[in-house]
Amino acid sequence: MADRPDVSSLGVPGPLLGLESSCDETAAAVLAADGSILAEAVLSQAAHARYGGVVPEIAARQHLAHLPGLVAGVMARAGLRYDQLGGIAATSGPGLIGGLIVGSGFGKGMAIALDLPFIAVNHLEAHALTPRLPGLVEGGAPFPYLLLLLSGGHCQCVSVEALGRYHRLGTTIDDAVGEAFDKVGKMLGLGWPGGPALERLATGGDPARFPFPRPLLRRAGCDFSFSGLKTAVAQVVAGYPPGALPGQDAADIAAGFQQAVADVMADRAGHALEAFAQRNPSGRLLVVAGGVAANGAVRAALHRAAAARGFGFVAPPPRLCGDNAVMVAWAGLERLRAGATSPLHHAPLPRWPLDAPDMALA
Ligand code: KG4
Ligand code: ZN
Repeated sequence: MADRPDVSSLGVPGPLLGLESSCDETAAAVLAADGSILAEAVLSQAAHARYGGVVPEIAARQHLAHLPGLVAGVMARAGLRYDQLGGIAATSGPGLIGGLIVGSGFGKGMAIALDLPFIAVNHLEAHALTPRLPGLVEGGAPFPYLLLLLSGGHCQCVSVEALGRYHRLGTTIDDAVGEAFDKVGKMLGLGWPGGPALERLATGGDPARFPFPRPLLRRAGCDFSFSGLKTAVAQVVAGYPPGALPGQDAADIAAGFQQAVADVMADRAGHALEAFAQRNPSGRLLVVAGGVAANGAVRAALHRAAAARGFGFVAPPPRLCGDNAVMVAWAGLERLRAGATSPLHHAPLPRWPLDAPDMALA
């Protein structure tokens, strides 16, 4: 297999439709056979905000309600008829099972009706392959590279070595980093999801006023932990009477928390880069993905960690960092080019580790 992204349309009979429905984003995208984006749409489900977290049953129903319209919309904007498609890729795990059933069932239904290949995409693989989208990274993103996947549900360092060959170097031992942002955001009364609002609040804060702990700093390995940091923030917030946290204090807490996360990220990324370099002496690129990759302080810390070790650093644009269907269609294209399609009886998997045996490529 070529280790550079293949931007030819070789072996792909036409544009690919990608579907994403593993959590609370309903998304559809159409990519041309050469990987260029023809149309994309993401609907972030607002219905969960008042519950302060994703409600799986509501998510599944929302996917069912919105997917048909999103698909019709991207097809119209791409200027395509359904019989011009060359394949259907749908996220089939890991994630919330209701949404996965809706999206992958929808995709399989289309594949049957249109007699097209179906590609069951691992959501984590879709994040992992995003930097290989044509035009995203100058000179392309050849294998191998190190991926930091930082989202609401995942927090891991992955050595991306080839299509279907991933090695997890470290993961969180408690919360995912986005989850920690969301929980601290909730403590500060910021609504849900808390990450973007917390970052905005932190811009007016003093990161040194509250010296929060840096869990696992300088410890061996590249695992993460955020529960101690979260508890430390909760203890500070509990020192104020309910509902009486002054705005400046909230901003200082937000800035202190964000700085602690950024410091931990830089330290853990440094360890991960060393472990990655031992496995892949030719690798020279650190890629960050997932919703938290939109955070400026985290990006800056990772950039510094990469530069200090002679690595390049890439963060895809925020719309391709969070959950989206462009990445699903792209992973589908990479798989279709490798002949790795999925049987129609492929069952969606709520748990689907990246390093699980890859039957489609076997
Ligand atoms: O990848 P994503 O869209 O969905 C999954 O969790 O799979 O990531 C969403 C997470 C949420 O926890 C959200 O609070 C966090 O990413 N997030 C941020 C920022 N933007 C999104 N966290 C910190 N700073 C941000 N600017
Ligand atoms: Zn995701």
